[in-house]
Amino acid sequence: MKVLSVASEVYPLIKTGGLADVAGALPAALSAHGVDMRVLLPGYQQVMAKLRNPVPHARFDDLLDVRATILASVLDGVDYLVLDAPELFDRKGGPYTDADNADHPDNWLRFAALCRAAANIAEGALEDWTPDIVHAHDWQAGLTPVYMKQGPAAAMPTVMTIHNIAFQGQFGPDIFPKLDLPAPVFSMDGIEYYGDVSFLKGGLQMATAITTVSPTYAQEIRTSAFGMGLEGLINARSDSLHGIVNGIDTDVWDPSSDPFIAASYSLAKPKKRQTNRKALADCFKFPDSDKPVFTVVSRLTWQKGIDVLTELADDIVAMGARLAVLGSGDQTLETALQAAAERHPDDVGLVLGYNETLSHLMQAGGDMILVPSRFEPCGLTQLYGLRYGNVPVVARTGGLADTIIDANEAALAAEVATGFQFSPVSPDALRQALRRAIRAFGEPKVWERLQNRGMKADVSWDRSALSYANLYAELLVPMSEKP
Ligand code: ADP
Ligand code: GLC
Repeated sequence: MKVLSVASEVYPLIKTGGLADVAGALPAALSAHGVDMRVLLPGYQQVMAKLRNPVPHARFDDLLDVRATILASVLDGVDYLVLDAPELFDRKGGPYTDADNADHPDNWLRFAALCRAAANIAEGALEDWTPDIVHAHDWQAGLTPVYMKQGPAAAMPTVMTIHNIAFQGQFGPDIFPKLDLPAPVFSMDGIEYYGDVSFLKGGLQMATAITTVSPTYAQEIRTSAFGMGLEGLINARSDSLHGIVNGIDTDVWDPSSDPFIAASYSLAKPKKRQTNRKALADCFKFPDSDKPVFTVVSRLTWQKGIDVLTELADDIVAMGARLAVLGSGDQTLETALQAAAERHPDDVGLVLGYNETLSHLMQAGGDMILVPSRFEPCGLTQLYGLRYGNVPVVARTGGLADTIIDANEAALAAEVATGFQFSPVSPDALRQALRRAIRAFGEPKVWERLQNRGMKADVSWDRSALSYANLYAELLVPMSEKP
């Protein structure tokens, strides 16, 4: 079975968040189930620099008025198809923003072109490879099913995965004529959304199946509290909605072979974890101590509950614990965390920016990973935490609720607990969870069991890759053969 995956970021070529990890891990995870997945992504500067022996496979003189080439390149066994369109992607900055962190004003065109190219591939633009199914990720790929529906690949099944329904790709109606879509598509049943164009809505409307990245989030987005205005549409399509929890790439995230950490360790040989603890303290300029260290690796935003966490920075220190944060995001949150670090230089530390290497050491050297998100479609850092013995303390929402088992008395007695959950996302509830975690940390036997259970938990892609493979297979059964 051949599947074209379409994503705006794919680890290790380009990453700003969890989407990249997932899009990067799926091809290998799915090949174990007989799926030949190729990944289409934009040829940003960072991507072009990493390609090895790219081979041009199709040229388009007029991809929404832009000249573009599809380059094929294999890296670490993954087949990439890269949309090389210098006019759109040969720019400084990140995948969505310029060097000053402002959104590119033509993001609608950059990602519409990506979707148009994906549809062309579905329609046979590559001589030697045409997919059976197209799998689009997030709003940047949202127009793919829309374009496909208008042409010769209209009958090919499509899957639209929501990694975060808060980001919808909404643009003014003036862009519609430039998308090269028939006029009726700009309607309530198409991509029109309160008078604007919505890429995600279009994808959700036209895709054969919709998935999101955890079962709990699949339920949550049917409500107005989480659906961000799209709950009506999600409910209308609930028969086609599936919640498939993310796994992690257990080759990239493996404390026994991770090149980014200070010393390798494993369940069988846990001692060297201590070396990583020390390295992390050095990195944050904390003096030697046995105090428990809460770690955070996150976008610093309201979604992630970082405002609530910041409010508790002084309390954490007063409770005899430490806080080490790696992240970047909202200016006010960065400033508030910076101020907390200045107030408590020995116990609160902040590394601003994006640092893949340090993100691994945070997991290997931290005691707890804190994820106080107001909503979290899946979340990956708590899964990395499990695998690295960095015990998760998480808000009870979305994928966090699905992947962590709270250390309440019953779960401890049953030997199933893997972390701490709290709800709602308020200073009081978070404070209580932190207290519980600190108390458990003070009981070495209890703590060791918690860590060990997390490290043994199956956070791999095995089960979820099978769910995707089964879904693809189901979509390929012709309508006439369905019971
Ligand atoms: P989201 O995609 O919503 O940001 P996830 O938990 O799914 O949240 O994924 C976040 C990914 O980005 C993880 O791989 C995490 O390690 C990584 N990450 C987040 N912030 C940073 C940072 N400042 N430096 C390095 N990696 C980061
Ligand atoms: C999004 C979500 C996050 C999820 C990731 C990968 O960025 O915010 O919860 O883990 O996508 O699916």
